[in-house]
Amino acid sequence: MHAVPPLEQDTIDASPTHAASSKAAHTPDQAANDAPVRDLRRVGIHPDYWYPLAWSHEVKRGKTHGVTFAGDPIVLARTESGKVFALEDRCAHRQVPLHQGVVDGESIRCGYHGWTYDCSGKCIDVPYLGRERLPNGVRSYPCREVDGLIFVFPGDAAMAEVRPLPTLGSVSDKKYKTRRFGRPVNCHYSFMHENLMDMNHQFLHRRQMGQMRARSLGRRRGEGWVEVDYTFARMAGQQPIGEAIVFGQSRKSGGDNDKDVMTIRTEYPYQTLQIRTSEQTLVMDLWIVYVPLDREQRINRTFGLLSIRKPGIPGALNLAWPLLVWFTERIFKEDREIVEAEQRAHDSQGADWNHEVFPVINELRALLRESGAPDRVVGAGTGDTEIIRFWDSRHGNPLAKT
Ligand code: FES
Ligand SMILES: [Fe+2]
Repeated sequence: MHAVPPLEQDTIDASPTHAASSKAAHTPDQAANDAPVRDLRRVGIHPDYWYPLAWSHEVKRGKTHGVTFAGDPIVLARTESGKVFALEDRCAHRQVPLHQGVVDGESIRCGYHGWTYDCSGKCIDVPYLGRERLPNGVRSYPCREVDGLIFVFPGDAAMAEVRPLPTLGSVSDKKYKTRRFGRPVNCHYSFMHENLMDMNHQFLHRRQMGQMRARSLGRRRGEGWVEVDYTFARMAGQQPIGEAIVFGQSRKSGGDNDKDVMTIRTEYPYQTLQIRTSEQTLVMDLWIVYVPLDREQRINRTFGLLSIRKPGIPGALNLAWPLLVWFTERIFKEDREIVEAEQRAHDSQGADWNHEVFPVINELRALLRESGAPDRVVGAGTGDTEIIRFWDSRHGNPLAKT
């Protein structure tokens, strides 16, 4: 059995160095030797993981569906037999998107001249050429369909065999009802991780949740993950109905209502949020991931699975479900607006001026920075080899910064 690392206390560091408001304090994070470290907002997500690129229902039988991962166009197709596969979204001939083509049996036929590709990306038919003269095909991506999500492995395909698919919370447990949600959010994925892990922002949700105070019980860190435990106390106001649905109990202000423990974990590149009662019953289990869509990784598509444990009364959760949807949508909207504002601030400042005072968020930022993609080298052999980071085109070359 693995030893569980002990909880470390989260002591807020608001020392003058961190709290100073001068421009000098607004530099990006510094490493111990004071060398500049990578601007987290410019760290590409690592492609060697499984990412959901669509919900199952979006890829209909006999149809193609165009998506992107960090700017790379990918076509998903569901064949006549119901199998899903993923290819580069370009025809090897004139480079038009294959998602504009048609599914033909178990393959995709390009909409222009009808070149046809099987699930491995091999070109298996050019209507006006003999079979012995078939051209090269296109890249295929490892692809799996699990619990209503279509996962693609955009990185090194050999890694797909050794990298496990994530466990999707309690989605397949009959004792839970799951809400699937998500939409594009106009920010770098790191803002999303920070937002969910940082429960000190309850103030943002004061109109939805009343006055709640989060108290950190401490944090743990391991290889590829960081997590934090919180308890909550209601300082004033009524318990909102959405929260009551989750807990199935009434928690009044000022009462003994801080026994539930919320654990938020980033296990790169995924995130989970679990709430357990004092009896250790898992009453809420959220699994979520933020998939960059564009090359600069300033837009992410959120895929979330929110599982709520069914109460003892059959059907009660179904009745209350529209309220829960309404409540969670309101919360999500507030979070979306604030993280998009953070991204706009970063863009106008041209660097990450964040000065974080909460230790678990600094641990999280270090984890995301270390786990991200290495800088990409493009143009090798063409005489204009350069290291580009996906943000270079708009934001200049950070290597030139001191
Ligand atoms: S462009 Fe696809 S077949 Fe010609
Ligand atoms: Fe929030």
